[in-house]
Amino acid sequence: MPSTPETYLYQRVITLIRAMHSDGRLRPGDKLPSLRSLSQSLAVSVPTIKQAYLELERQGVIEARPQSGYYLKPQDTPSGLPLKARAMRKPTAVSRQQLIEQVYQAIHLPQNLSLGVANPVAAKPPTKALNRTVRRVLTMAGDKALNYGPMSGYEPLKRLLAWRYMEQGINVAPDDVVITNGAQEAISIALQSVAKPGDVIAVESPCYFGVLELIERLGMLALEIPLCAQKGLALDDVKKAISKHPVKACVFSTTIANPLGCRLQDSEKADLVALLEARNIALIEDDVYGDLYFGEQRGIPCQAFSKKGLVLTCASFSKTAAPSYRIGWLVAPGFRDLATRTKRALSCSSPLINQWTLTEFIQSGEYDRYLKLLRQVLLTNRDRMLGLIGRHFPDDVRVTLPQGGTVLWLELSGELDGAQLFQQALEHNISITPGSLFSPSSRYQHCIRLSYGLPWHQRIEDGIETLGRLCHTP
Ligand SMILES: Cc1ncc(COP(=O)(O)O)c(C=O)c1O
Repeated sequence: MPSTPETYLYQRVITLIRAMHSDGRLRPGDKLPSLRSLSQSLAVSVPTIKQAYLELERQGVIEARPQSGYYLKPQDTPSGLPLKARAMRKPTAVSRQQLIEQVYQAIHLPQNLSLGVANPVAAKPPTKALNRTVRRVLTMAGDKALNYGPMSGYEPLKRLLAWRYMEQGINVAPDDVVITNGAQEAISIALQSVAKPGDVIAVESPCYFGVLELIERLGMLALEIPLCAQKGLALDDVKKAISKHPVKACVFSTTIANPLGCRLQDSEKADLVALLEARNIALIEDDVYGDLYFGEQRGIPCQAFSKKGLVLTCASFSKTAAPSYRIGWLVAPGFRDLATRTKRALSCSSPLINQWTLTEFIQSGEYDRYLKLLRQVLLTNRDRMLGLIGRHFPDDVRVTLPQGGTVLWLELSGELDGAQLFQQALEHNISITPGSLFSPSSRYQHCIRLSYGLPWHQRIEDGIETLGRLCHTP
């Protein structure tokens, strides 16, 4: 293991044990390595291993047996990863409006425990640091605070973003960056730049419902490509889809997907981009969760592998600093002028003060320090929530082991209905997201999405227990 502060190393031990469980190296009832042997093989101190085992025990994943050691608990772990959906159907028109509105209403009711909103920043909001920064910016800005910002974005922010891509080895010029109102507007501009009404857009299945809503509003058709919860997108499935259907563009989240939390290997991304660019198919990559990885390194955006300028990268600060600021961006070197014109036509410019504040936040170094902390908090929350689900949900529940991001995807037994569970949970002041929202073709009725992007609290533990009880007695 690389040298990292001791406090974080125990998280890695937890992740390792969970990974050994999910890939079958450890099975329920198996004895875990002794503290000393694991300490030697990982080059981590015995107290750190002990801390990890105690946390896993607290989460209900393992148990200590007197005089014997630690064991993976037989019943308290979910029974596996969700299954990959069956083969693709035809391109489908999207219409899911009503249920989405109910879900949005539920997450904004103050009495509700919001497990239905993917807002990782809420787990540890950088309120003080951002408020301090905004006050400083307002003083510096004077009357400029009330001005329109430049149409394609505040130059210093565009330069910083381009620089951050350069640091990942991606050649992006500041002029290639268009600042948008969140990633949602970036995806909208990207779709409008590469496709028109009636065109077929390939999406991941399950797919973030905001993308499906956009496809609906723009009169396009969605073609679902099922994802594997462990490995993400299979290139063979993409090949089949594009050879069978007239796919105009794809919207994929290859760094961290929502809701499955899986990611593609960087080498596979190169093949994916080559495959699509050879057929002149645009790839809109939704990279909003890319910085919230739990492994050693951030996944490289597909933009890095583009040879023809057909990759359009969409991202934002919504999942990493402040969703309320509504600041995102689009990097689309091959569509720069068109994207800039579309942005101007849609919303003129994005809030200047928010862009300025984020620029200062990044420049001060606080943003990167915050990101590091946020990833740790989210990883701890993920493991706690997995432990609770293992303890309280029926044994046959299947749950993802996200490699980043803020949500778990649960596949419940066939007779349970996610939309019905959503209504029942609301009666207990809990908001969840029903799985059917993540498909335009009535899939995932028996699935739900739960967010662990909340400050950890007894209410979450009680909420998961309640949801588990509702699943036992539908
Ligand atoms: C996968 C994904 N893409 C895009 C968005 C939209 O992001 P923003 O709030 O920056 O518009 C979200 C928000 O939940 C998301 O989960």
